[in-house]
Amino acid sequence: MQSLPALLDSRLRALTGIDPEMRPATKPQFGHFQSNVALRLAKEQGRPPREVATSIVEQLDVSDICEPLEVAGPGFINFRIRADVLAQAATTVLEDPHHGLNRTAHPQRIVIDYSAPNVAKQMHVGHLRTTIIGDCFNRLLTALGHEVIPQNHIGDWGTQFGMLVEHIMEHDIDVAELDLAGAEQLYKDSKKHFDDDPDFATRARARVVKLQGGDEETRAIWRQLIDVSLKGFNAAYQRLGVLLTDEHLAGESTYNDALPQVAADLEQRGIAVVDDGALVVWVEGFDAPIIIRKSDGGYGYDATDIAAIRYRITALKADRIIYVTDVRQSQHFQQVFGAARKAGYLPDDVRAQHVGYGMVLGPDGRPFKTRDGGTVSLTSLLDLAEQEAAPGIALAAIKYADLSGALHKDYVFDAERMVQTTGDTGPYLQYAHARTCQILRKAEAEGYGWGAVVVIDEPAEQTLALLLSRFGEVVDEVAAKLTPHKLCGYLYDLAGALSAFYEACPVLRSEGEVRSSRLALVAATRAVLATGLQLLGIEAPERM
Ligand code: ARG
Repeated sequence: MQSLPALLDSRLRALTGIDPEMRPATKPQFGHFQSNVALRLAKEQGRPPREVATSIVEQLDVSDICEPLEVAGPGFINFRIRADVLAQAATTVLEDPHHGLNRTAHPQRIVIDYSAPNVAKQMHVGHLRTTIIGDCFNRLLTALGHEVIPQNHIGDWGTQFGMLVEHIMEHDIDVAELDLAGAEQLYKDSKKHFDDDPDFATRARARVVKLQGGDEETRAIWRQLIDVSLKGFNAAYQRLGVLLTDEHLAGESTYNDALPQVAADLEQRGIAVVDDGALVVWVEGFDAPIIIRKSDGGYGYDATDIAAIRYRITALKADRIIYVTDVRQSQHFQQVFGAARKAGYLPDDVRAQHVGYGMVLGPDGRPFKTRDGGTVSLTSLLDLAEQEAAPGIALAAIKYADLSGALHKDYVFDAERMVQTTGDTGPYLQYAHARTCQILRKAEAEGYGWGAVVVIDEPAEQTLALLLSRFGEVVDEVAAKLTPHKLCGYLYDLAGALSAFYEACPVLRSEGEVRSSRLALVAATRAVLATGLQLLGIEAPERM
C-alpha cells in the first residue's frame, strides 16, 4: 500500500518535475502537509511565488485524497487529507491480514550471516548485537515475503584447536563434563600453557596438523568442544528468543574441503598471485591483499569467507547476502566482496552488504568491561537487565536499546534506563500495546463492538490514522536500507500519537458510531504495534 503522503508526493513531483519536499504541517490549521515547491520554481522562473502556487493548485488533481488545496503565506501549498480518506486508510490497515505491510512481488533468497560466536569462548556483548540485529533482519525480510537463509558462521576452526586438544589430552580432561564457561577457562589455561612452555607449543602445532589431517582421536575431541559450545550458544538463543537453530549452522570448518579447490582455481585463472610465498588476491583500492593461502600452506579467515560466498551463490542460490558484524570488520568484508567479484564468485546482480554495528558501552560511556578488564559475557548482560525487570521486559529493553540507534553507532548499556516504561524504550512500546489490549478487552466485556473507522474529525484521531497508513512504507524503507532504528522511531511516534489520541478523544465513554470508530482505530493501532514489535523480535504481551 502506498501511503497517502507518498501518493501526494508522487503526483506533485510528476506535475512540477522536482522534489516537492513535502513536510508535515506545523499547525493543525495548516492541514496535514505543506510543500514549498512553488517558492523554488518561482525563483527559477522569475515569477511571483503565489502565482506559481495558484497555477499548481489549479492543475494538480488530488481531490480523491485532499480537501481543496490552499495557498498560504508567500506561496506555500497546504494539503489537508479528507477525513473519509483517513478513515478508509485506517480501516484498511485494520482489515489487511498483513496490516499494511507490502508483500514483495519479487521474492528473493536472502542469506543473512549473523551471530557467529566462536567455539570454546562465551558469547560476548558484540555477539549480543549481531544476534539481535540479524534476527530483526530475518523477521523483517521474511515478513515481506522473502526466503531468508540464516547462516551461523561460527568460529570452529583454526590453530587454537591444536592447543586446546593437546592440552585436553595431556590433562586427561573430560570435555563432555564441561559447560561453555568451563570450555572458555580451558581455552585460557591452554593459551597460558602454550605461551609458557615451548615444548607444549611444539606439540600443539603438531596437533594442528593431526586435526587438519583428520586424525580420529583429535577430531573427536574437537567435535566435543563444538558440542559443548553449541549447548551454550543454543541456551543463549533460547533466552534471547531468536530464530536461530542448529539447522542454520555453517561454521568455518564447513569450507575446509573447498579451500584447496578455491586456491587452485584462483591461481590458475591468475586472479590470485604468489607474493612472498603466500597466495593473495589484490583488490583495487586496498593497500594490502587478502590472503588465500598463507606461506605455511594454511588457510585463514579471508579464504574461508571467499569459499563461503562461492557456496552461498552456487549451492544456496542467494540473490542477496547480508553480513552482520562489528563495524571493525567492514574493511575485511569490502575486500572479500571485491575479491569475490573479481573471481566471478559473486555475480554483479547479487547484492552483498556488510552491516557494521558499534560497541556496547558501559554506563560510564567506556567500552563495557568486567571489573578485571575482561570482556562482558552475553549471559551476564541479560542477568544485569533482569535485576531491573522481569525477563520479558528486560529482553524488550535490551533489544530495543540495540536496534533504536543507528547501528554503526556505539550505545550505552544502561539497564536502569532501558527498562523504564516511559521514554524511548522497548517496555514503553510494550506498555502502549498492552494498553490497546486493555481498552479492547473492556469494550468487549461491556458488549461494545467495532467494525470500520468511519468518523475521524479530531486532529489527534487524524494524526494517528495518518501514521497508521505509513506503516508499510516505513517497513519497506527499513528492509531496503537495513535501518531498524527507523522502525523503532516510527513505533515510538505511533505510541505517542496513541496516547495523545486517548487523552483528547474519549473512547469507551463516547457513544454509538463514534465509539465504534474509535475502538476500530485502537484495534488498528494494536495490530501495527504488535506487528512492528514482532518484526523487531520483541514480544508484545497483552497485559503488563
Ligand atoms: N566469528 C566471527 C567473530 O566472532 C564473526 C564471523 C562473521 N561472519 C563471517 N562470515 N566472517 O568475530
